[in-house]
Amino acid sequence: MLLLTADEDAFEEHDLDIDSRRHFDDGLILLSPFNQIFGHHIGRLRDAFAKAFPAAHMGFLARCARWRRVGGYVLVHAGISPGVPTEGHAPLKDYLIESMARYELPAKRENILFTNGSQQALDLLGRIFIEEGDKIITGRPTYLGAIQAWDAYEPVYVTVPLDDDGMRMDELEKALAANPGVKFIYVLPNFHNPAGTTIPLERRYRLVELAARHGCLIIEDDPYGQLRFEGEDICPIFAMHKENTIYLSTFSKTLSPGLRLGWIVGPEKIIARLVQAKQGCDLHSSSLIQFLAYDICSRGLVRAHVRQIRQVYRERRDVMLRCMEENFPKGVSWTRPQGGLFLWVRMPEGVDAEDVLKLALEEKVAFVPGRAFYPGGNDGHCCMRLNFSYCKPEIIEEGIKRLGRAMARQMAQL
Ligand SMILES: Cc1ncc(COP(=O)(O)O)c(C=O)c1O
Repeated sequence: MLLLTADEDAFEEHDLDIDSRRHFDDGLILLSPFNQIFGHHIGRLRDAFAKAFPAAHMGFLARCARWRRVGGYVLVHAGISPGVPTEGHAPLKDYLIESMARYELPAKRENILFTNGSQQALDLLGRIFIEEGDKIITGRPTYLGAIQAWDAYEPVYVTVPLDDDGMRMDELEKALAANPGVKFIYVLPNFHNPAGTTIPLERRYRLVELAARHGCLIIEDDPYGQLRFEGEDICPIFAMHKENTIYLSTFSKTLSPGLRLGWIVGPEKIIARLVQAKQGCDLHSSSLIQFLAYDICSRGLVRAHVRQIRQVYRERRDVMLRCMEENFPKGVSWTRPQGGLFLWVRMPEGVDAEDVLKLALEEKVAFVPGRAFYPGGNDGHCCMRLNFSYCKPEIIEEGIKRLGRAMARQMAQL
């Protein structure tokens, strides 16, 4: 396996600047779902706390191509290959199996299916599990993309509140008791999007116990698990409860969101049903992208890159937390994530984040109001999601000052 030299390991200013240049010269390029909600503001936005993007990824792929000539061989290989099976490229599965081995996750290719990002995995799960009126349990708040994927199948959302340790198990217990026949419980165990919370080990055991008691599946969505800045990794729920958990992850946060490559790990029977559903959608995920991901992973480049971005994001998180402490009005609170990309801010009851957004946009700073992360959009009015990975520290400092001013102005009007 090739290892990076100390020199190659270092970020080049140029690589990180790719994002900042776009950010300053062109304003924001806003992607769904943000532009659906506030599309009319797009032209006016300059600051990027609303972005769900990691920061340093574009630079990473460019560096892979430059140093290691990644890409050329892959193109030739893809050109002569008839494609991959629906389940995905077997060597890439073997790479994942090896990286999961420490958790004793099932070491079989039959348990893995590659998808077009985790977003497709969520949709496929909706297709095979949800019929109109079926009950599913999500956190309150939860990942907006999951709501978007599942709304099409018309489930009834039963929502369970979070605290600083993620989904509350006392409330989950009540929700399961009150709603027999729930199809699945959807959890984000590490560095929750949007809340930034992580479920501790004891709570994961409790979750498994409750799910087993009620004969209910768990969907464990873990795009951010590798982006831990401090503390120890916590055992995935899937490793505790293999028969009844479906685990999702993605290369979006470690390699590049634009590759659109994620994976599902689950019991063979469920994977077989998902394979059928995926065949109906697109036959298989791009073989070119799977070959490319394998080429990069098998050279050890992803692990080295993840070590770097953890440091960069950690610094940015720390800057954001410090600036919030210095600039946010009294009565505003927030989560302190141990990794990932997001944190969650709560203003006093009665302060509407959408009103604050209007003032923030006058200051040319944007965020995602909390309401978007609640099924039905009927909660979270005083909350917002901030992203800390995307902007450079000096931009974060300026953005948080402006946001603090906007909050103070809105709060003074009440
Ligand atoms: C919790 C969660 N699940 C799934 C996804 C979708 O990831 P992908 O880019 O792999 O489709 C995201 C992306 O932001 C996410 O935050």
